[in-house]
Amino acid sequence: KHQQQQPLIAAHQEAAQLYHHILVNTKLGETARAYLKKRQISPEMIDRFNLGYAPGNQVLQSFFSERKTDYQTLRKTGLFVEDQQGNLKDRFSNRLMFPIANLTGALVGFSGRLLQPDDNAPKYLNSPETEIFNKRRVLYNYATARQAARQEHRLILFEGFMDVISATQAGIENGVASMGTSLTEEQIYDLKRVTDHIDICYDGDTPGQKAIARAVTLLEQTKQFQIGVIQIPNGMDPDEYRREFGAAGFQNIVKSGREPVIKFRLRYLRTQFNLSNEAERIDYAQQATRLIASLDSSVERTVYLKDLATDLDLELASLQEQCDQDRQRLEHEQRPAHSKVTPPPAAPQQR
Ligand code: CTP
Ligand code: MN
Ligand code: MN
Ligand code: MN
Ligand code: MN
Repeated sequence: KHQQQQPLIAAHQEAAQLYHHILVNTKLGETARAYLKKRQISPEMIDRFNLGYAPGNQVLQSFFSERKTDYQTLRKTGLFVEDQQGNLKDRFSNRLMFPIANLTGALVGFSGRLLQPDDNAPKYLNSPETEIFNKRRVLYNYATARQAARQEHRLILFEGFMDVISATQAGIENGVASMGTSLTEEQIYDLKRVTDHIDICYDGDTPGQKAIARAVTLLEQTKQFQIGVIQIPNGMDPDEYRREFGAAGFQNIVKSGREPVIKFRLRYLRTQFNLSNEAERIDYAQQATRLIASLDSSVERTVYLKDLATDLDLELASLQEQCDQDRQRLEHEQRPAHSKVTPPPAAPQQR
């Protein structure tokens, strides 16, 4: 199997080199270079992430036919679309290219970004599923972040390519991207192979918040992670945040802005209610109290109940009482009737 994959990986390396060369050294790459400059991506990051530009005009097809690369190999790379006659045409045109490595660092795919929004084409176009590219399995920057996580003992989970690159430019190297908002089971399995400490740093917009809630639930279900949430404010994404507040601001939010999951859950829950409506306020108070009731530490429960009481202008005592009831109900639900803990047999009397 490894033998079959090698030519495909080699073709990806050659394609990445070509796209990178076009971006960095040629007139064809000029607009893409200007685009990256405007986005404050440094030349060092362009090299490190081997960013490129696919100009169109079948450059990749010409490149490989000059090299006489085997047709069947080229077909299987996914770098081309096949027309009726079986001719291969470049899949990526007029796109900024992000080479994507597999878990061991071998190039297995690309994502290409349009430089300008276009209603008729997706912002990012990815390689199709191939023998070597499985989108559910890939985590952008995994092989590199894995090394950095040895020092940091944690990984940061971003949504996108630019977030990982921005973080790296700000000196934060333990970031990976799920490449979208739907974290997969396969990705979770591979996260676990690196560390049990995951900080989720998805976009601050509404889809990002929804995706954090989903990711937290999936990660919690495995019972194998310690999870934190890094909340990016004002609907920005991490890359936008770095541009707004600089490398120092970015480092600060990543290193000091980590919140426990309960804080995220309470804030997210709050956004689901119209608190000027009395019935919704009560509903929110009850659901929030139930979330707090699941915390094992009574000190923590009190802290969050106090915040809630202040926020909703309610008596702490009444929330506390509700919380105690919720806890009793939780205990009841979690302990099946037949497995009640039996007290140990009375110790034999000494003497
Ligand atoms: N994505 C994708 N296909 C799309 C849109 C998004 O695969 N049509 C993936 C990409 O990996 C992208 C990530 O989802 O990086 C997050 O999407 P989004 O937040 O919309 O993009 P950004 O990463 O913020 O990209 P940019 O800053 O370049 O707009
Ligand atoms: Mn640990
Ligand atoms: Mn997003
Ligand atoms: Mn984004
Ligand atoms: Mn972005």
